[in-house]
Amino acid sequence: MEQQAKKRIYSAIQPSGMLTLGNYLGALRNWVAMQEEYDCIYTVADLHAITVRQEPAKLRKQILETYALLMAVGIDPEKSLLFIQSHVAAHSQLSWLLSCYTQFGELSRMTQFKDKSAKHADNINAGLFSYPALMAADILLYQADMVPVGADQKQHLEITRDIANRMNNLYPNVFTVPEPYIPKIGARVMSLQEPTQKMSKSDPNVNAWVAILDKPDDIMRKFKRAVTDSDACVRYAEGKDGINNLMDIYSAVTGKNYQEIEKEFDGKGYGDFKLAVGEAVVDALRPVQDRFYDLMNNRDMLETTWRSSAEQAEAIARRTLGKVMKKIGFIY
Ligand code: TYM
Repeated sequence: MEQQAKKRIYSAIQPSGMLTLGNYLGALRNWVAMQEEYDCIYTVADLHAITVRQEPAKLRKQILETYALLMAVGIDPEKSLLFIQSHVAAHSQLSWLLSCYTQFGELSRMTQFKDKSAKHADNINAGLFSYPALMAADILLYQADMVPVGADQKQHLEITRDIANRMNNLYPNVFTVPEPYIPKIGARVMSLQEPTQKMSKSDPNVNAWVAILDKPDDIMRKFKRAVTDSDACVRYAEGKDGINNLMDIYSAVTGKNYQEIEKEFDGKGYGDFKLAVGEAVVDALRPVQDRFYDLMNNRDMLETTWRSSAEQAEAIARRTLGKVMKKIGFIY
């Protein structure tokens, strides 16, 4: 009964190296804001990370750092569940069940699969292909109402909804069909060097992306070098991809709208604007970085926290898994 009182939110992030300003503005800030109003469950998606080859010691370090970083941005384990995906076995179990209700054709249409298989042509494994079934399992296990993500995950949310609807047609009311929650500003933070491409930590040009843990000097350098255009006027317009991206970032971190930004930089050059964006980002990330380094010195606390969250998550997840298995016809 108490479960119905608040709507449930689920989201996850991969522990694939340094998290970026894109992750922060597109997803994590909303995760934090939603804690006040909703019943939130957040996960470090370590099982998803092995769809590309990982070095064991490095992966372990990245899982730990990602967990600490989620706490540093403001996820509060007193309010929300925050755990590591592989610690709750039901994610893998439900993933197998759902993959038997997911079609080859629909998985073949996933743009992320096409992109990643082009990038890792030597390792196009079955996990990379069936990745959306694991993501659907993550979300559906907790009967989530809403999933805060950046725009690049929209297609995966759509397939999750298709799988949930398909299962509900076969086995009535087995799953809640989740809605995506995509922010208006920050949903797609673009590369600082090629502003028609998504900002991504896998970009080999380090000036193209800002990590949440980048040092202030590096952040400033990256913004100073950001690609703009020859118009020399700070305004939001079609074809001005670089400036539009910087305006989106500035808007997301300061709360100012486009008109306010255009007025603030009226008659000023791109140099001043880039400096202001860089400084605003440094100011926004400074408290996150300070908290992160404190938390990393407290490994025992991190472990106790993720264990306690995983236990609570497990209780919910097993209930859903049991229900699905019974409906399918297993002796559970
Ligand atoms: P991941 O780890 O690639 O990214 C985590 C979140 O950050 C968002 N994001 C961005 N938003 C705006 N601009 C960008 N440049 C940018 N780059 C990344 C992503 O949209 C995402 O919200 N498959 C997922 C992880 C996952 C998941 C889930 C998400 C696993 N299970 C269940 C939601 C629900 C992924 O790889 O995200």
